[in-house]
Amino acid sequence: MKKIQIINGPNLNLLGRREPGIYGARSFEDYLDELRAAFPDVHLDYFQSNHEGDLIDCIHRCGFDVDGIVLNAGAYTHTSIALHDALKAVPAPAVEVHISNVHQREEFRHRSLISAACRGVVCGFGLDSYRLAVEGIIHVS
Ligand code: DQA
Repeated sequence: MKKIQIINGPNLNLLGRREPGIYGARSFEDYLDELRAAFPDVHLDYFQSNHEGDLIDCIHRCGFDVDGIVLNAGAYTHTSIALHDALKAVPAPAVEVHISNVHQREEFRHRSLISAACRGVVCGFGLDSYRLAVEGIIHVS
């Protein structure tokens, strides 16, 4: 059975309540049930933290073990060299995910410091971005 770790960064614990016009009205926990049902042959683990170091620790913990990492680093996408380095430090391929199309938004969201450490990027498809990222990992791993 393939193992994929989903990691959500800061403020994504508020999905469903946070800026629903941009991020939708559904909680991630609710969506995760649907995602797990869509991939019955894949073990999907989920971790969320608002703290950069906790996200790095999670990448270190799972990154030698899983077939892939689906990472929505939230705003740390645009600031964190440490997350870039953590992704480079482990063998698991990562897919960077964004719910919104960051390129249609403020300029400070156009730059990602983690894309270059990822196998691919999915953004702009709402929560479905996560499903597309899981599909991508299944096909490369
Ligand atoms: C986000 C986009 C980021 O710019 C933002 O800081 C987030 C969410 C997204 O999923 O669209 O927190 O990663």
